[in-house]
Amino acid sequence: MALWSGRFEERTDAFTTAFGASLPVDKQLFEEDIDGSIAHATMLATCGIITEEDASQIKAGLEDIRGEIKAGKFTFDINDEDIHLSIERALTERIGSAGARLHTARSRNDQVATDTRLFAKKSAMNLMYANVKLRQVLVDLAERYSTVILPGVTHMQHAQPVLLSHHLLAYAWMFTRDFTRLVAARDAADACPLGAAALGGTTYGTDRFQTADLLGFDHPIPNSLDAVSDRDFLLDLMYAASVSCMHLSRLCEEFIIWSTSEFGYITLSDSYSTGSSIMPQKKNPDFAELIRGKTGRVVGDLMGLLMTMKGLPLAYNKDMQEDKNGTIDAVLTLEQSYRCMAGMLSEMQVNSDAMRAACDKGHLAATDVADYLAKRGVPFRKAHEIVGHLVLTCEKRGCMLDDLDLADLKQECDLFEDDIADALSIEGIVEARTSYGGTASEAVRVQLDEVKARLKADEGVLI
Ligand code: ARG
Repeated sequence: MALWSGRFEERTDAFTTAFGASLPVDKQLFEEDIDGSIAHATMLATCGIITEEDASQIKAGLEDIRGEIKAGKFTFDINDEDIHLSIERALTERIGSAGARLHTARSRNDQVATDTRLFAKKSAMNLMYANVKLRQVLVDLAERYSTVILPGVTHMQHAQPVLLSHHLLAYAWMFTRDFTRLVAARDAADACPLGAAALGGTTYGTDRFQTADLLGFDHPIPNSLDAVSDRDFLLDLMYAASVSCMHLSRLCEEFIIWSTSEFGYITLSDSYSTGSSIMPQKKNPDFAELIRGKTGRVVGDLMGLLMTMKGLPLAYNKDMQEDKNGTIDAVLTLEQSYRCMAGMLSEMQVNSDAMRAACDKGHLAATDVADYLAKRGVPFRKAHEIVGHLVLTCEKRGCMLDDLDLADLKQECDLFEDDIADALSIEGIVEARTSYGGTASEAVRVQLDEVKARLKADEGVLI
């Protein structure tokens, strides 16, 4: 018999019961549901709406149920539709009328919004922990590979040499921003809908500030309609997750390319690769590909809820039940992807010789040769043209800029002197980029300190 059986003459049929149930998904929120109910019962007793005796029976009963669910001993029944009804029914079966009083002055509409907000806050925190761990690995690598140089590229074409540390720190900054987005998502969830009841508030003398406080929320949501209808906080969380997945996916894409036989910049460890069932020689970057692939799903989760919400009038609509699957999926996927990436990074082998050798292809010195002339008075546009012509000569001869002798250079511009050798040295080119945020070791050390300071501050948020 459904909890609303008073109004109905017939039961829902078995198919629609299962179709309408959110239990298979929201049973994962049992802890949040029990915490919310305990806070609600405590408040009801404080406000004299139920007796202290009822409240303590409710709390003890709920703790028993929590223990049973944790131990895998609780039997869920799909006829209960969702976690709220499952727990309430089990409670009432155990403690009788005290259990039946728990639902005074609340509705499943504020209950589900409360559970989901508690879950969103907890998930954002878990993701923040995993984010910080990943950034720690990136910082360690940036410190370890502080002298390794690889070709920096634009349009996937060799552009200028950069330090590997510099490249890795670019990702550390992305994940630093992701942390900030996760904090914002956690803060967005940090308001309590409980007590908004079905939509318009309640006639009982409740204290919504007390329940908000007991549950660790910053404040009760001031508008009861908004309290039960808002899912922005889930969108914020999934947006933060999507952006961070996108960053992971970009890094994966680099690793997939870098681990090809054409590049050979890195070798992924065996534990982060798989073989082929037919080709014995294969070692595939499956996990990098998987993270890249899962990113699509996480972005899809965000899009799904945006679409679900866009046509909903106030207040609660059953459509909103579709909010949890995607959110749970998105946060779990990102947490696992962070973990996978941290492991992959710490175990990968960096082939610095291959990176350095690649710097001898693609005329990486061209900008610096043009700068050399510009610093000697040639307008930069003109210098660009002169060096472009030198590159063309190299292409025709099949050589590099530093294979040209001084006479070749002077033929294009007589301002070239012997000291051009400095502008042609890959190490010299890197070390010359001392501007703030640039790739010279000195500048990279400065940003490494900044990345570490941010990491330390963010770890502080988690304590
Ligand atoms: N299972 C529902 C959900 O997840 C709980 C709220 C149901 N409220 C209602 N009036 N049907 O959204």
